[in-house]
Amino acid sequence: MFTQWRFVISRCHAVASVTACKNRFYSANAIRIRDAINSQKVGDQLKIQGWVRSIRSQKEVLFLHVNDGSCLQNLQVVADPSLHDRKLTFGSAVQISGALVKSLHKGQDVELHASDIRIIGSCDPLDNGFLQIHTPIITSNDCEGAGELFQVELAQKDKKQNDERSHFFSIPVFLTVSGQLHLEAIAGAFSQVYTFGPTFRAENSQSRRHLAEFYMVEAEMSFTEGLEDVMKVMQSLFKTVTDNVLSQCPEDVALFHKHVSPGHKEKLDRMLHNDFKVITYTEAVHILKSCSHSFAFKPEWGSDLQSEHEKYLVQHCGNVPLFVTNYPYNLKPFYARDNEDHPNHTVAAVDLLVPGIGELCGGSLREDRLSLLQSRLEMAGLSDVYHWYLELRQFGSVPHGGFGMGFERYLQCILGVDNIKDTIPFPRFSYSCLL
Ligand code: 4AD
Repeated sequence: MFTQWRFVISRCHAVASVTACKNRFYSANAIRIRDAINSQKVGDQLKIQGWVRSIRSQKEVLFLHVNDGSCLQNLQVVADPSLHDRKLTFGSAVQISGALVKSLHKGQDVELHASDIRIIGSCDPLDNGFLQIHTPIITSNDCEGAGELFQVELAQKDKKQNDERSHFFSIPVFLTVSGQLHLEAIAGAFSQVYTFGPTFRAENSQSRRHLAEFYMVEAEMSFTEGLEDVMKVMQSLFKTVTDNVLSQCPEDVALFHKHVSPGHKEKLDRMLHNDFKVITYTEAVHILKSCSHSFAFKPEWGSDLQSEHEKYLVQHCGNVPLFVTNYPYNLKPFYARDNEDHPNHTVAAVDLLVPGIGELCGGSLREDRLSLLQSRLEMAGLSDVYHWYLELRQFGSVPHGGFGMGFERYLQCILGVDNIKDTIPFPRFSYSCLL
């Protein structure tokens, strides 16, 4: 998805520049929409150019509203549905030829009866049905509830000048740890959404898989029926993006596999050509407790899986990516959906563990039931802060879920890079922020 996202951006640039060239060519004999509307030359054959503001496709007729920026009003275009190209979407740049006729509709004197619709620049903001959302970097929430936040404050000099204001935003704000909660709000309107951007964690860790600033691809889906829906997207994201990387830049990947991680190509092939495995957290603890391996941290039901545990589990399950599901209620953040099970109380959360790294993705079904979410937030003393989040469950709440994949860990995984700091040009971690 990330690769596709980058392609979408470059395609946008390409399409925009091609469109600009074509526009010069086309515009010679096209009429501005303002002039078409004002001319009232009913019966004239015209050619207009602009962007599609709405599309209504009925069995017998296709309606478009087109605007070229020459006036506020859109021109209604009426066409035979056979002229409806799959690529004709909201935002497409089009050139339409046809006859200007008197309109029977209120609010417009004329409309264009199209004989030809040409798409000059397609507009495809959806990536496999997922709409990209830019979630904010500055936020007032701590999505993960772990308190690993960098607070954003005015620099000292400005602080003095702004003595009367203790906070620029009037409330404490932080660098985002995850765009999830914003995605959840937007998924309530667009069903399937994703974001790709920097995230920040003040984890005081010098480990080979932690950064203070890292990138995350996050997806959120409405109308999920179970954790399987979330796992399916995780697996397909991993495989599709990796296939793309391997086909688009084979030399770069081969260079890594030859000089940095000999033997990694075969490991990657195994990940790509096998279905990912699934076990529950309870099964995972059972495997860890009954094996002869000695761990630095003793595995116990109710405790977090440590990196050594995750690596062992992946090996035990055949060195293919492994989903671990249904974690203890107390281990996961407030948003995870309560499984309401006994005696082991778990939530519908899932982590994807990969060979050599451990956790690559973290996700869950979200608690969509108002009463359960409310009581969990109240217990954590957070119901005021997350008032807006609770409201999402009051007005048209749907079962939904999603996940986040750490981008630098993903690069570690496919390239076989041992230390996460080698996957990013300017790594930030505790006691180190060079440049
Ligand atoms: O498991 P995490 O904390 O999940 C979330 O943030 C969810 N809100 C995501 C969601 O559901 N939308 O983080 C997701 C992934 C981890 O699996 C890991 O790959 C990566 O982000 N990650 C880190 N990568 C590098 N350095 C760190 N300090 C990281 N912390 C998490």
